[in-house]
Amino acid sequence: MEHKTILSLFDHSGEWARPYAEAGHNVICVDVKESGSPFVNFEVDVMDMSIEWILDNIWDLCGDGIDGILAGPPCTHFTVSGAQYWKAKDEDGRTAEAVAFVERTLAIVDFIKPDFWVIENPVGRLPKLVPDLQDFGPLYVQPHFFGDAYTKKTGLWGQFNPDMPRNDVEPIRACDAGSWLMQLGGSSEKTKALRSVTPAGFAAAFFAANQWNDGQVKIRWPFHDEMEDEGETLPSYIADDAADGYDPWN
Ligand SMILES: C[S@@+](CC[C@H](N)C(=O)[O-])C[C@H]1O[C@@H](n2cnc3c(N)ncnc32)[C@H](O)[C@@H]1O
Repeated sequence: MEHKTILSLFDHSGEWARPYAEAGHNVICVDVKESGSPFVNFEVDVMDMSIEWILDNIWDLCGDGIDGILAGPPCTHFTVSGAQYWKAKDEDGRTAEAVAFVERTLAIVDFIKPDFWVIENPVGRLPKLVPDLQDFGPLYVQPHFFGDAYTKKTGLWGQFNPDMPRNDVEPIRACDAGSWLMQLGGSSEKTKALRSVTPAGFAAAFFAANQWNDGQVKIRWPFHDEMEDEGETLPSYIADDAADGYDPWN
């Protein structure tokens, strides 16, 4: 098998990239926090990943270059569940900082031109703040589409194959507040990291659809809302609907 290289940005756990590593591909995870992931890790701020930095630090690890890019940038300043803080965040620069992470990801994609790329972010105002993304999604998915019995609706933007094999299971409501994710309340670094670990079933399904079986990854886009929840209609960007109390975590 030809060994490819996956660059996984904002990946503390390494779980999204794990299926690629287990299939024998090179995996390079980047996160600003020191990682416990077993893969090659760079503890670096994505904003410091200039073209020069990439060439100096990771190009030699990549064989023929980087073939796929996964990115799960911070969502705290975009998600609907924090809508009451958006105004303050817009004013004090937190929104602009979070937008810059996504724009830097797009710049890295543009420089590297991998076979596929994908940016993941929960339901929120991201596509409104980064309009360039609107040409590339979203495709909404849930962990329970792929065998993990909980809800956390999230969007995917990029150029990739969206035909991920489904393994639908009934989401478990762990308490009145909703899925077990809701029970992991609190703002400690540990609970925040646990809430944001990529679900294993989704990672496996994404890998199944985005690998080099026939020498090429099948890319198909645009694919707006192909996997929208049954019976639920959400606009692609819903900042104006935040007041309706829609809770993407539940
Ligand atoms: C939404 S979480 C994604 C976590 C990922 N799904 C996982 O399984 O580890 C966002 C991640 O971005 C990282 N992060 C925040 N600011 C960063 C920066 N400036 N550069 C690189 N990583 C950053 C955080 O440490 C966090 O792990």
